[in-house]
Amino acid sequence: KWWTVDGAISVQEQACIVEAAAMLAAGQTVAFPTETVYGLGANACDSEAVERIFIAKGRPSDNPLIVHIADVAQLDALVLPYGETAQRLMERFWPGPLTIVLPVRPNAVSSRVTAGLDTVGVRMPAHDTALALIRAAGCPIAAPSANRSGRPSPTRAEHVRADLDGLIGGIVDGGPAGVGLESTVLEVQGDRVHVLRPGGITTAMLREVAAEVTVDPAVDPNGGMTKALPPSSPSAAPIESQRMAEHASGLAAEPPLKEGAAGHTAEQAAERSGELLSVQPAPRSPGMKYTHYAPQGTLSIVQGPSAYRVSRCIQAELDAAKGRGETTGVLAFREHAEQYRADIVASLGSVEALEEAAHHLYDALRHFDEAGATYMLAEACPAEGMGLAVMNRLIKAAGHRIIHC
Ligand code: TXA
Ligand code: MG
Repeated sequence: KWWTVDGAISVQEQACIVEAAAMLAAGQTVAFPTETVYGLGANACDSEAVERIFIAKGRPSDNPLIVHIADVAQLDALVLPYGETAQRLMERFWPGPLTIVLPVRPNAVSSRVTAGLDTVGVRMPAHDTALALIRAAGCPIAAPSANRSGRPSPTRAEHVRADLDGLIGGIVDGGPAGVGLESTVLEVQGDRVHVLRPGGITTAMLREVAAEVTVDPAVDPNGGMTKALPPSSPSAAPIESQRMAEHASGLAAEPPLKEGAAGHTAEQAAERSGELLSVQPAPRSPGMKYTHYAPQGTLSIVQGPSAYRVSRCIQAELDAAKGRGETTGVLAFREHAEQYRADIVASLGSVEALEEAAHHLYDALRHFDEAGATYMLAEACPAEGMGLAVMNRLIKAAGHRIIHC
């Protein structure tokens, strides 16, 4: 069932909310908009309902779900007493794109929600339709992103339909999501917060409330946990920068990548050469260990000392890929997008406003798939502010393939 929210009248009064909420209360799944991405909701206290989420998404059962509430009054029934820092985070950032992991009250939600952990991630979305739906359902709503596991999170109702049509009870269409990336997930330790997944609430914003903010090394693009690769064609980068990249990454010069099935991706080439960089530490957020958001073709990120060098490197790689018969795509900031020759050029918005990149990223990745792109390159951005979440998702989508030029 597909409901469209009418923006002209108050959302609480709409029949679609009443109907969708009744479906949730009856143990069905319903996809709904939030300010981050679309979620696939079910009654968090009903194990059979929650099971339907896992089946529809094809989600691994050891990955816990976020519980969505509409009112802090719902919280005491869900979690054990929490400290002042958690309280301040809620006051400052709820409703909003922040998930706080707290000790769960025993038997408060289905153990399918927590995946057997003694904690639960809770958030209050800043979206009128989501809040109205949760309120009308009268129960806490477990909701992961409403995509098939391994696909980019949905930022439009059409994305949900493309992934989950026929597998869920219904979709509430409230137009495009705002932030475009999933919420920041964190745990609280005394007056410190530890970010398990970067998102719309940045570390700088968290620092206004918490004495100390740390980012889990497994999700920090600045943590040096990625596989550094030299450009595949030597002509793509001036020699001195290539040497610098080799020095920085500890990789010896590699021959240009070969065509053909046996090793046409940079990652495969690096694996064959046995020179991968250090393995990532296990993430503390179970979901971050899975390769999410992977497009169907091969995506790599290109990083370099200047925008000029990055764009020269990207164009050389694109031309080489074209020569191999690939369908090429480039994910570029608006300031540079026009200069590229590729089959598909997707703009991430202005390099000066990384919220735009967050907003456009998943849509662009889906667009590449629809257009049949087999070889894609993305311009890197500074992993600061909103750029931390953007680079975290890009690196995951790229399977940690980074070309240094
Ligand atoms: O913005 C969002 O958070 C969206 C919308 C729908 O609210 N939801 C979302 O859910 O992104 P999902 O399931 O795709 O991601 C939940 C993340 C996973 O990485 C999961 O491992 C982590 O939160 N998580 C959930 N409960 C946790 C817990 N108790 N401890 C640590 N990590 C947890
Ligand atoms: Mg997800």
